[in-house]
Amino acid sequence: MTRLAGKRALITGGARGIGSAFARRYVAEGAQVVIGDIDPARARRTAEGIGNACHAVPMDVSTQEGIDAGVAGAVDALGGIDVLINNAAIFTAAPIVDIERDDFARAFDINVAGTLFTMQVVARVMIRQGTGGRIVNMASQAGRRGEPLVAVYCATKAAVISLTQSAALNLIAHGINVNAIAPGVVDGEHWDGVDAAFARLEGKTPGQKKREVGAAVPFGRMGSADDLTGMAVFLASADSDYVVGQCYNVDGGQWMS
Ligand SMILES: NC(=O)c1ccc[n+]([C@@H]2O[C@H](COP(=O)([O-])OP(=O)(O)OC[C@H]3O[C@@H](n4cnc5c(N)ncnc54)[C@H](O)[C@@H]3O)[C@@H](O)[C@H]2O)c1
Repeated sequence: MTRLAGKRALITGGARGIGSAFARRYVAEGAQVVIGDIDPARARRTAEGIGNACHAVPMDVSTQEGIDAGVAGAVDALGGIDVLINNAAIFTAAPIVDIERDDFARAFDINVAGTLFTMQVVARVMIRQGTGGRIVNMASQAGRRGEPLVAVYCATKAAVISLTQSAALNLIAHGINVNAIAPGVVDGEHWDGVDAAFARLEGKTPGQKKREVGAAVPFGRMGSADDLTGMAVFLASADSDYVVGQCYNVDGGQWMS
């Protein structure tokens, strides 16, 4: 399993969850990885658990300084960047009448501006290197349609899909393929938070929302972070050379488009 031999990858938000599964799989496929995360202690522990080919740098994608520092740290550690996974994001939920501007701004700063400006800084690095590159943005089925209590998060993920298309059309001229992955419901700490939000907003018991969404997946269960790693490898490998500006559903059959 060395489909990514020699590749140097920056994975934002890789301290836990899906990003950490990507980091582990990328290293298993021969890549060197830097995890850039706002939780540097956890990122370091995760990287140490993966091994010598995985490093951690502090990175807050909600600020330009945080992005610049994280990308510079990755270039220092690896000597360059061939693959970026824009994975860092936060979830937020509220009925329309209760959405607060601060929550809206924070979600857009991290999920949308973080994605765009990390792409920008890394694309400059890749263009300077002159050897092309791969950018994978983490979208969501939440970006495919709205949800009554999840307007802001859904809007951020719809924006990620749109940014993926525009960036792909712009950057393919430099040999940089930009694509996205739209997971469905993936169990882990992210969904612990989603479950707690629905318990609060819909009066559900703890764990109830998870059981409901899992039962609704055609595959028969919620996804795991490991279910997504194959697509992340494909989009960073030579097998996807001719794939540009796509958003792949990896969701057990929930969304078809
Ligand atoms: N879990 C799901 O069901 C699901 C479904 C669809 C899409 N996604 C998307 O997949 C990606 C990963 O999801 P996950 O379940 O692993 O989430 P998670 O909440 O478990 O992990 C997110 C990571 O991002 C980091 N982070 C948060 N804010 C940051 C910032 N400002 N700068 C840098 N790092 C920051 C966190 O510290 C954490 O390590 C996200 O983009 C998420 O929106 C997840």
